[in-house]
Amino acid sequence: MHLPNYKEAKIRNKEYKTVEYKLDENYLGKYSGKTYFLKTYGCQMNEHDSENIKAILDSIGFSEVNDYMNADLVLLNTCSIRENAHNKAFGMLGRLKHLKEEKKDLIIGLCGCMAQEVGVIEEIMQKYKFVNFVFGTHNLYRLPYIIDKALMENKQEIEVFSKEGDLVEDIPVRRASKYKAYVNIIYGCDKFCTYCIVPYTRGGERSRKKEDILKEIEKLVKDGYKEVTLLGQNVNAYGKDLYSDYGLGELLEDVSKTNIPRIRFTTSHPWDFTDKMIQVISQYSNIMPSIHLPLQSGSSKILKLMGRRYTKESYLELFDKMKAEIPGVSISTDIIVGFPKESEEDFLETLEVVEHCKYDNAFTFIYSPRENTPAAKLKDNVDNSTKEERLQRLNTLVNEFFLENNKKLENEVVEILVEGKSPKKKDCYYGYTKTNKLVNFTGKDIKEGDLVTVKITDAKTWSLDGKLFK
Ligand code: 5AD
Ligand code: SF4
Repeated sequence: MHLPNYKEAKIRNKEYKTVEYKLDENYLGKYSGKTYFLKTYGCQMNEHDSENIKAILDSIGFSEVNDYMNADLVLLNTCSIRENAHNKAFGMLGRLKHLKEEKKDLIIGLCGCMAQEVGVIEEIMQKYKFVNFVFGTHNLYRLPYIIDKALMENKQEIEVFSKEGDLVEDIPVRRASKYKAYVNIIYGCDKFCTYCIVPYTRGGERSRKKEDILKEIEKLVKDGYKEVTLLGQNVNAYGKDLYSDYGLGELLEDVSKTNIPRIRFTTSHPWDFTDKMIQVISQYSNIMPSIHLPLQSGSSKILKLMGRRYTKESYLELFDKMKAEIPGVSISTDIIVGFPKESEEDFLETLEVVEHCKYDNAFTFIYSPRENTPAAKLKDNVDNSTKEERLQRLNTLVNEFFLENNKKLENEVVEILVEGKSPKKKDCYYGYTKTNKLVNFTGKDIKEGDLVTVKITDAKTWSLDGKLFK
């Protein structure tokens, strides 16, 4: 049994090596005939981890089913970012408890960010004894051994490492799409924004070697992939722990030369977005002009309390530079309202920044105190109704700009990567523009994975309608 510990999770030393994933042959196909259901909560990093988990489970003989009621193993890959993510996972555990009362052999596992939380593990050990095993974000590759131990010893197995350990390459992967792929470039985060639990759940910043990243992308190109999204909690920090003169700008340039048609990257911290990155994004046509640039707050006072390392003014300067230098760039953001000590004036400054930036997309949240973070110790002096009201006002404003920006695309011809038939609209296909806008469109002889051009016929707040152009 290994339990998480925040003191260790906070330590940052860059002593890690790259090792290769290896599975003991005795485990291959060991659980053949058994089925699993994997539920993923949270961000793209978790979605990508689930692609690894699925491939590992496949390799030891499990096969996937779409309904948890029919599964021998139910595994929850969880998220810690806000309380509602927590509540969803615990709600699911409640349902699984009932199911297990009827189906005694059901195996239940929990992994992902919540597994790294001390409070969650205490709760699971005390109140959720029916959970068979738990593993964390740093030891996903040990899944076969953890399941095996839990079942052989027939007791709850908890293996969560607080320190990151080695960077494991070549973990098997079963990708959700044949055309779009996630590629990790950096793990962890060293920014320690005061509200954020990620530096504790995902550990220190560790970059993958550029050769390993490029090898993975070259293989994706050979396999017919059209788009890669380079992933990291803060991709702008890429390379700092490995190289003195090679960062995200240089990596983007090298990835561009693999000739993959579309390159995206997320998430960028405004603090270390360099001129080199801006220059490279504007120069290469296969690097998508679409940047996620979290603002969090428009008040320099709140940004300071959040530990964000930039001010309202320096954010706006960077924003304006991107708009001026990257042709047609779309910029999306994340904003938190109701942070401790946020006054009406502070909130109005956030609205002012939104008015200026006219974001193409925005994810807006009410602040949620997280265990062990510095902000959780601040006195929360904004009442709930004010938080709700601010979120409403913010959402009304951001929505206006989504529509205003989308309207500008009416009658324009845009490039779309076809993702498939629209789940919502009959006889429609869907895909995204270079600027990451969802388009539903009609046309003949359309194939998933094709890059096509579409004429936009109608703009809505969250999507566009169009017709195949050629
Ligand atoms: N409360 C509310 N929102 C949060 N985020 C991160 N931590 C919290 C929190 N404690 C938001 C930030 C971040 C996004 C991924 O989630 O806006 O950019
Ligand atoms: Fe959290 Fe800040 Fe790191 Fe983003 S940059 S993961 S908000 S600590």
